[in-house]
Parts: sequence; C-alpha cells; structure tokens
Amino acid sequence: MVNIREFELERWQSLRETKAKILLSESGIEPLSIGELKEIIGEPILEDEFTIGYGWTKGSIELREVIMETYQAKLNVDNILVTHGSVEANLLVTLSQIKSGDKVILEKPNYLQIHGLTEWIGAKQHFIWRKKEEDFKIDLTELINLMRKEKPKAIFLTNPNNPTGQYLNTRELEEVYTEAERLNVKVIVDEVYLGTEYEDDKLKSIVEIGFENGNIIATSGLSKAYGLPGLRIGWIIAEEKEIERMWSLKDYITIAPSKISDKIASKCLQPKARMKILERTKRILNENVKILREASKNLEKIKVYMPKAGAIFLMEFIDRSDDNEICEELFREYGILICPGSTFELKGFARVGMGAKPELFKEKLELLKQSIIKIISKKRC
Ligand SMILES: Cc1ncc(COP(=O)(O)O)c(C=O)c1O
Repeated sequence: MVNIREFELERWQSLRETKAKILLSESGIEPLSIGELKEIIGEPILEDEFTIGYGWTKGSIELREVIMETYQAKLNVDNILVTHGSVEANLLVTLSQIKSGDKVILEKPNYLQIHGLTEWIGAKQHFIWRKKEEDFKIDLTELINLMRKEKPKAIFLTNPNNPTGQYLNTRELEEVYTEAERLNVKVIVDEVYLGTEYEDDKLKSIVEIGFENGNIIATSGLSKAYGLPGLRIGWIIAEEKEIERMWSLKDYITIAPSKISDKIASKCLQPKARMKILERTKRILNENVKILREASKNLEKIKVYMPKAGAIFLMEFIDRSDDNEICEELFREYGILICPGSTFELKGFARVGMGAKPELFKEKLELLKQSIIKIISKKRC
C-alpha cells in the first residue's frame, strides 16, 4: 500500500492556527461560547449528575432522533451513525464503500479528504473541475457526461462546496441523482456546509431527494453551519445495512462519540435551539457578505470570487502563482492566517474565512487587504 499523501490544508492550519494573531483560516461560523449556548438552550449545558461514561457507540437515541428530524425524509434512527466530526463520517463512508480499482468521480477544488483517501485505497479517480471562468460552478452537462462515460462506483460531492462557496441547487442535485440512479452510481454528498446558504433557504439535502431508493449516502456535522466544531460531532445517513458496516469499522477507530458532546449536541438540535443557532449563522453571514462586497470594490492585483454559501471566499492573486509564499509572508510578518489555494490544488489563490462576528470581520478584512497589498506590491527579484 502506498503512503497516504499529506492532507496539506489540515497540516497548514495545524502548524499555524494556535500562533496566529488574526485568524482568517477557519471555514465555519464563529464558534459559540458556553454562555451563548446556555442562553440559546435555556437550561444548564450539563447537569451535575451527568456521568462521563462511554455512552452509545452509534450515538444516543436522543441525538439520532433530533438529527433525523432535521431531514424531511422517511428515516429511522438505524439510518444514522454519529461520528467524531464529519471527518470521521467521510472516512467511514470511504473505507466501507470504495476498494482498490473502483472508479470514483470527485470534484475539484474541494476539501481534499476523500481525494487523499480514495487515492490511498487505490481507486481510479476521475475529476470534475469547477472552473474560475464559470465562477467555480459545476458544469452539470460535463458532470453527467462524465458519469455516463465512466459509470463509476460512486460520485462524491461536497454541497455546498469548500473552498468555492458554490453549490448545486436542488434542481441540479435532482438531475445528478436521476442520472446516477439510472446508471446505478452511488451518490455520496458531504453536506457539512448545508445551512450556510445566504439566500436560498430551499436547498435540499440529497437525503430528501432520493433516499428511499438506496444508493445515497450523506455526511454532515455541527462544525460549520452550527459553529460547534469543538464538539466533534458528525453523522452519516445511509441505508441500515450500510450503517451496520460502517459501525463495524468505527469499533476500530473511535468506538463512540464523546458522551459529553453527544448530550450537548442533542440539546442544540432540539427544534427551537437549532432554529436560533442557524438564525445566528445566517445573520453573521448575511452581514459579512455585505462587508466583503464593499471591501472588494476597486481592488487591484487581487480578485475576490463572491461565494453563495459557507463562511469562506476565494481570492485570486492576479498574475501570481506563489500563493504559498504570499500566505507564508502574511503569517510571518503580520500574524494573519489564511489558507493558500495550493492546499486545494488552486495555485495563485487563497481561501479566506468569513465566519467572524461582523465588526471583527470588517477589521480583520481591512488588515488583510492592507497587508496583502504591501506584500504583492513589492518588487520581485
Ligand atoms: C467539506 C468538509 N468536510 C468535512 C470537514 C471536517 O469537518 P469536521 O470538523 O466536522 O470534522 C471539513 C472541514 O473543514 C470540510 O470542509
């Protein structure tokens, strides 16, 4: 077996995020504090008699029930496996579904976890590129033609996508699903950014499009739209027999989600609390998009690609491909952390987080702008 390739994005952040003065590398909404959560939930986060045992290895029934209720689909608790973040959800799904030699379709640019995993497993990868000339939207005809040509075992999507902040809308997802169903291709969608769309409140989960017919798996979690990455709670939605296979794998990896996180997550996903949390997310993002639009006017040597979802946007350094060096200098000289586009195989770009509370985001963005201008205005020798 070949060595697994370095997950450059995660390593870039891990090495720097605890030292950065100005953090603009996060892709999720500003994390909630215990105080904010207490107010939202309206009761103590945990009671004194709560015991810190192992808990349910699949996730508590209580948690799986509230997760189930977030989907308008015929599910039962056995269609859900709670995981250690959506990163574990993606790992379990990939390991259980894909073996060496299987054909898979993957989108790029993207969060490259499943790309690294399927390469390591020895799958035959086919890519669909989101092109900058098309504002990083997926060309649906190209995607469908690729499915018809390759007839892969599975197609993996991230909807909404990281780092572009674009997504396939419900109609487009339905088109992909219909063709995949006809070709017997599994559709596996990472939906950890669902709920971060700025305008479209009708974006459906793939689970709500065709779950009854099998061939669909979704992963998700609380790290991005919910602003609760420290809970490390994610989940998988799949047919019961697939969940059983993934559960068997999970025994080897994390055994169970943290019981503390499971309990807090159960409270956060109660309908009222969930609504308040998602409203906070939309409030922050809608405000930040306006700030970004204003700040992007009259820029020279930099182009901002306006996102439609997620707490992230892409910035292009015009006529420069040394994004790693620019981001490194930004961190070293100004303590500002963003993510080089190269960590997404997107040379000459950078991904910037926009999940901070609006007043703070405005300040951070201004500092970023000034610092980048200084860096890229320097004469190169
Ligand atoms: C598309 C995508 N999936 C999964 C993850 C992992 O998230 P989690 O914190 O839920 O494990 C990330 C993190 O950035 C992501 O961007």
